[in-house]
Amino acid sequence: MGILLKDRINQVNQRANQMKENGTFFWLKTIENSSQSRVMVDQKEKIMLASYNYLALIDHPKLKEAGIKAIEKYGTGTSGVRFLSGTTEVHKKLEAKIAQFKGADDAITYTSGYVTNLAAITALFQKDDILIIDKIDHASIIDGCMLSGARYKTFLHNDMGRLEAILKDSDNYVNKIIIVDGVYSMDGDVANLPEISRLAKKYKAKVMVDEAHSIGVLGKTGHGIEEYFGLENAVDIHMGTLSKTIPSVGGYIAAEKSMIDYLRHNSRPFIFSAPIPPVNAAVAIAALEVIEDEPERVENLHRNMERYRVGIQSMGYNIGDSVTAIVPIIVGGEEETLQLCKMVNEMGVFICPIVYPAVSKGTSRLRSHVLTNHTVEDIDEALSIFEKAGKSLGII
Ligand SMILES: Cc1ncc(COP(=O)(O)O)c(C=O)c1O
Repeated sequence: MGILLKDRINQVNQRANQMKENGTFFWLKTIENSSQSRVMVDQKEKIMLASYNYLALIDHPKLKEAGIKAIEKYGTGTSGVRFLSGTTEVHKKLEAKIAQFKGADDAITYTSGYVTNLAAITALFQKDDILIIDKIDHASIIDGCMLSGARYKTFLHNDMGRLEAILKDSDNYVNKIIIVDGVYSMDGDVANLPEISRLAKKYKAKVMVDEAHSIGVLGKTGHGIEEYFGLENAVDIHMGTLSKTIPSVGGYIAAEKSMIDYLRHNSRPFIFSAPIPPVNAAVAIAALEVIEDEPERVENLHRNMERYRVGIQSMGYNIGDSVTAIVPIIVGGEEETLQLCKMVNEMGVFICPIVYPAVSKGTSRLRSHVLTNHTVEDIDEALSIFEKAGKSLGII
């Protein structure tokens, strides 16, 4: 039996309204200044643990200057799709810069990371193909798989035995691809790329990695998951966003030239939708240059990640297998998670809760993100707030 649209709308809105009444609706908060290591929220300064501004590039003078120059030269948008009147020199420069940064032949950009996964997966794979994905891959990968019309199967998170079992059973499909997140966005752990790559070669599958949370974070110089594992050519399709470490908007695929040319001619969001404005492309180029020119940003992020992770874990919080800038504080029950969130926000930390359906039931959590410009004092103050709140609620 179907459900009337008005009832469907009411069901969802009712829950949100109840949470607003209880003071446990922590989402859609207005940030009242630029998103830095401390931010103004609810007219109070708080330590920022909810941003993806990992390398603190949002306020970087070179990025701002590049954006202003691009607006002055090209105006505010393209007023056209790339194919017709929407390609500027700065779009081409960005794609060349991404290709160089990822060590690929060529790259293509789209208007968001979400659209990038949809665009690439639907253009590249069809009904006789199999897409093999980690159970906790990002929603945009799952949505891309559903839209593609290809068969898709999930393996338990990072379970290489299950991945191999699916690959063994996939001889009947024309093309096989394994698609994973480089860093899992809700858990902060890393895909087992060495084993994925070995299995892909054994079973003649391709590998696509979503590097939304690994660019600027993984690897000594922030170049991502292959650098982190010391691997080369383990990834066939590099996907990433321009909206996190790179504080602009958009997404990219970097791969061999023939595949990128094919996407230019065959991916519907490229052909039928306008591109990122030149200003965002210029900012993204500047961000990639700064990551390479100022290696101390990545080095400091790595130091901060270690200090925060060790601190949270040693208090007795469950952080799963996190080894990156994303450190989940897995509480379990939704109610307790919301209470912890409320308390730490009141005490001066800005952080958001993650509950079902974004994560499975019983694994509700607060998701903290460490930034390169957190000072030792920021980290230690945040740790002390978590310790006090966790103890007072009996969570640790
Ligand atoms: C792993 C992953 N992939 C893709 C995306 C989508 O990126 P965007 O926000 O640029 O659309 C996100 C966003 O949170 C993400 O975490």
